[in-house]
Amino acid sequence: MTYEEAKTLLETNGQGHVLRFWDALDAAARAALLAQIETLDFASIARMQGLLKDAGKPAAAAGAFEPAPVAVPEGETQAAYRAKGEELLRAGKVAALLVAGGQGSRLGYDGPKGAYPIGPISDRPLFWFHARKLLGLKRTYGAPVPFYVMTSETNDAATRAVFEANDYFGLDRADVFFFVQGMWPALTPEGKIILDKPGHIFMSPDGHGGVLAALERSGALADMARRGVEQVFFFQVDNPLVDIADAAFVGFNAAHGADMSLKVCKKRDAHEGMGVVVVRDGRYAMVEYSELSDEQMERTNPDGSLWLAYGSPAIHVFSLAFLRAEADRPMPLHLAHKKIAMVDDAGQTVKPDKPNGYKFEKFIFDVIPNAKTLLTLAFDRTQEFSPVKNAEGNDSPATAKRDLQAKWRGWFAQAGVSLPEGMPLEVDPAFALDAAQLKAKGLLIG
Ligand code: UTP
Repeated sequence: MTYEEAKTLLETNGQGHVLRFWDALDAAARAALLAQIETLDFASIARMQGLLKDAGKPAAAAGAFEPAPVAVPEGETQAAYRAKGEELLRAGKVAALLVAGGQGSRLGYDGPKGAYPIGPISDRPLFWFHARKLLGLKRTYGAPVPFYVMTSETNDAATRAVFEANDYFGLDRADVFFFVQGMWPALTPEGKIILDKPGHIFMSPDGHGGVLAALERSGALADMARRGVEQVFFFQVDNPLVDIADAAFVGFNAAHGADMSLKVCKKRDAHEGMGVVVVRDGRYAMVEYSELSDEQMERTNPDGSLWLAYGSPAIHVFSLAFLRAEADRPMPLHLAHKKIAMVDDAGQTVKPDKPNGYKFEKFIFDVIPNAKTLLTLAFDRTQEFSPVKNAEGNDSPATAKRDLQAKWRGWFAQAGVSLPEGMPLEVDPAFALDAAQLKAKGLLIG
């Protein structure tokens, strides 16, 4: 793109200010700025500007809805789902999809969140636990579960470096596919693109919902199809307890021929900040925490249980066919008011002390209403969900390490080994993926 082309494009879209420091830029900075301008998607920017009209207003109420029915399979039904999932795993028809492009701002860790040391004894990173589960699955079922890892421009190189430094955690490199999500500019309340340096547009990742377009653009969907993948297990980087490609869950989705299934778990309390799966106007939808009134959150059933008892920890299975159908469909945008470093008229970068602009994101759960068949499955959160979101308190490294060790301690107990209370503990998922595998090792600890 030439300067003249960029100028015309920007001015036509009311963004001529992006070039206002042009004369002061050197050749490299000019080329980099033109390259950035070329990536701008003005149709999406126009949609973002449309959203700014409602910015600052409280989230719209979610309206009338009912909580979605939740399946709690047990006994033979559960065993049948597991058998179905195991059959798919043995046939190599299951893929793992990890979204790891986020910025982890609440944790405040300098690096990709997946590199955060979570091993209670070893300090091994979150990525280690995810990858070693995939290795455990390959050993168990004799076929690889290909691993699709979404990064963002900010953490792509660092993420690949962690995999390299650890020799891909024992996985075959051919079974790991990195792809980068899209980036979007942020806007001022007046709808203007924000420059964070004189020759640089501030850009941020387009949200975990950006995964659909990124899967398509990168060729990952085609790669899945080439491998004969039918079911795609979706998870987030911050949950070291996640039961990746859980056979019963994958089998549950496949047995029903569903487009998508969501795991849901009992909320800690009425106000826990989780989205809830609902049925609204005859369609499934996710209602975000911010859209719920106190009355809706606190409402109880006649037996005293919470009306909205279950929340979504973002553990899903998609059919590949559904992901392919959704990849080209425009998704809704969500905006967040943030503090964004911005250049002043003198070209100096100024860090604001209060929110001054809007970032935009797509959310994966916005595909839910498009699913023809969708199911939710209850699971025990003590065994599968303890995310690392915050530096301290709830959902922090300390709680995740505590919950990991409690889970492993339970496995040892089931294997007939009782460990002293408080003894630090760590299990390599490639050694044992669950209590049964641990027991089969015939451990003796005295
Ligand atoms: P969160 O919403 O918890 O965000 O992401 P985050 O970026 O990890 O942390 P905060 O909010 O800045 O503290 C949930 C999952 O979605 C991924 C994250 O990497 C995490 O696995 N994600 C989020 C993306 O892959 N891309 C995004 O643009 C946003």
